[in-house]
Amino acid sequence: MAKVTVVGAGNVGATCANVLAQKEVASELVLIDIKEGLSEGKILDMFQTASLLDFDTAIRGVTNDYAATAGSDVVVITSGLPRKPGMTREELIGVNAGIVKEVVANVVKYSPEAILLIVANPMDTMTYLAAKTSGLKKNRVIGMGGALDSARFRCYLSKALNVNTNEIEGMVIGGHSDTTMVPVVSKATYKGVPVTNFVGEDAIKQVVADTMVGGATLTKLLGTSAWYAPGAAAAYVVESILRNQMKVVPSCVMLEGEYGQRDICIGVPAVIGRGGVEKVLEIPLTAEEKALFDKSADAVRATNAVLKEINVL
Ligand SMILES: NC(=O)c1ccc[n+]([C@@H]2O[C@H](COP(=O)([O-])OP(=O)(O)OC[C@H]3O[C@@H](n4cnc5c(N)ncnc54)[C@H](O)[C@@H]3O)[C@@H](O)[C@H]2O)c1
Repeated sequence: MAKVTVVGAGNVGATCANVLAQKEVASELVLIDIKEGLSEGKILDMFQTASLLDFDTAIRGVTNDYAATAGSDVVVITSGLPRKPGMTREELIGVNAGIVKEVVANVVKYSPEAILLIVANPMDTMTYLAAKTSGLKKNRVIGMGGALDSARFRCYLSKALNVNTNEIEGMVIGGHSDTTMVPVVSKATYKGVPVTNFVGEDAIKQVVADTMVGGATLTKLLGTSAWYAPGAAAAYVVESILRNQMKVVPSCVMLEGEYGQRDICIGVPAVIGRGGVEKVLEIPLTAEEKALFDKSADAVRATNAVLKEINVL
């Protein structure tokens, strides 16, 4: 059976670990943080739910002990500062790039065959950094943002149509950014029928706007970044990998010509299975959606360029 490590025992990492443990996605799970006792405490608390919730994933919390993470099949990297109200994800790069680079080096030292799932923000650039520095094949480095943004898009669509969330299909591609992510309205459906058949243009515009600032809305309400949906979204990707579910998950992956882009990690629909990114799906976009995607790629490239300016790449 499989082993998962979650780096960062804060809000998102602990939530992801909790979902994975409850769903018994892996036989073994390690939670690791730099803050003394934090992982140990969160895991002890989780362990005390095992008899109540009836799961038996072997869970362990450690402080800075990467040897305990050895042989992990999947490593989720959530270590890094979250944004505060009014901040953009891109503003986190100065601190988080250093953290992610160091964590990736520690992780691959002990788990050279791992698939990395990058969550820390600015996620597209942190995924690019991991892809460039880990030495892993490109299909083994995945960024999580699209799974969350798509879940938010489906929530807002379900409210606009007043239907069950699970009856709605919808995906968000492009960068994981308030201003440039691309909710793909042309492919959003209610039971296979375009959502535009059920609601007017103004309602759709509102759904798109709400989706794009979905994270900022929660940051304003909570005073910090959200965690239930981000943690569950990361666990969803891990489950698709370890159970080889081959789900199509909008994910941040290294492109080599797909969607007309190369040498960039950005959100596109990807088939996620035991090998990581099994395939990038090239879906037809409208001219407007393609233009928005290209604009989003330009924005991600601009953030990637900062990695060189601050000497982490
Ligand atoms: N990609 C997404 O969709 C998405 C969604 C939500 C949050 N995020 C990002 O995820 C990150 C974590 O968010 P959070 O709300 O859990 O923050 P948090 O502050 O609650 O947790 C972060 C944890 O990382 C730990 N950490 C810091 N440096 C470390 C290191 N070198 N090694 C190990 N652990 C280290 C901290 O001690 C802390 O416990 C942030 O960057 C946030 O912006 C991404």
